[in-house]
Amino acid sequence: MSSYEDYSRSSAAYDHTRPAQGVEIIRRVLSQNPVPLEAQVLVDAGCGTGQYTAALSNELYRIRAFDLNEGMLSTARGKLEPEIAAGHIDLRQASIDELPISDESADAIMVNQVLHHLVDDPAQGWPAHQKVFSEFARVLKPGGRIVINSCSHRQLGEGFWYYCLIPNALDRVRKKTLDLDPLAHLLRRSGFIEIRHEAAEKLIMQGDAYFDAKRVLDPRWRDGDSIWALATEAELQDALEKTRTLLEAGKLEKFMRHHDKRRAQVNQLSFTWAQKNS
Ligand SMILES: C[S@@+](CC[C@H](N)C(=O)[O-])C[C@H]1O[C@@H](n2cnc3c(N)ncnc32)[C@H](O)[C@@H]1O
Repeated sequence: MSSYEDYSRSSAAYDHTRPAQGVEIIRRVLSQNPVPLEAQVLVDAGCGTGQYTAALSNELYRIRAFDLNEGMLSTARGKLEPEIAAGHIDLRQASIDELPISDESADAIMVNQVLHHLVDDPAQGWPAHQKVFSEFARVLKPGGRIVINSCSHRQLGEGFWYYCLIPNALDRVRKKTLDLDPLAHLLRRSGFIEIRHEAAEKLIMQGDAYFDAKRVLDPRWRDGDSIWALATEAELQDALEKTRTLLEAGKLEKFMRHHDKRRAQVNQLSFTWAQKNS
C-alpha cells in the first residue's frame, strides 16, 4: 500500500495519463530467459490497473498479477475480465513482500513504478526493499529474470519539467527512492546476478499528456504522478498559483520547455534487470 498516494481515488483517472511505457524493453529481457516467452509464467508485482499485464498478456503462458489497492485492482479486473475467466491471468490482492504463490513457480517478475511506495528506512539499509527482493528470489525459478522499472535520482531531478514547481515533494520522493547503485547492491544480496541498468531513451512516463502544461491545474492529470501527493496543501496551492500566473501571461509553454531541457540527456525511466542465480 502506498503511504502517500490514495490509489482508491486516483485509480479512476490513472489510465488516462499512464500508458505501459517500456514494454519493448521488458519483452527483450524476458526473451533472454531459457524458457520461451510463450511458455513463461510472469508475475506483475504491484500491477495497479493492469496496464502492463494487458500489454503483455497475449505473449505469455500466464500472468499472475498482484496489488494491494482494491481500487486499482477493480479497474484491472474490468480490463482483463476475459483473460481472468479463461485462467490466463490470475489477479489478486496481495503485498509484493508476501506473494501467495509457491517457491520457484515463476519464470519472470516485472515491477513497474512500485518500489518508491514501500515504507522503508534508508538509514537501516532499506529493509523493506530487501524483504521484497528476497520474496522475489523465493518465487522465481533458478535462472529466472526480474525487470524493475524505476526512476534514478538523477532522472527525478532532471527528467520531469513540473517537479520544479514542487521542490520539497521532489526531495521527499528522492528519499523514498532507491537509486540504481544501492538497488543493484540489494539485488545482489538477495541472490541476483548479471545486473544491468538501461535508461529508456525517449520514453515519457505520461505519454503525450506530459507536454500539456496547463493540465497541472487538472487534479485528474496530477493523479497520474504520485509526487503530487507528497506536496503539502500549501506547496500545492503555490504550484497552482504559479502555473495560473504563467498561463495568464502566455509564458507557461516556454517555462515547460525550459525546465524540460535536460530530460533528453537523462530520460525519465530506468529499467534494471537481473537473473536469479541458478
Ligand atoms: C504507480 S502505481 C504502478 C502500477 C503499475 N505497475 C503501472 O505501472 O501501471 C504503484 C502501484 O503499486 C501498488 N503497491 C504499492 N505498494 C505495494 C505493495 N507493498 N504490494 C502490492 N502493491 C503495492 C499500489 O497500490 C499501486 O497500484
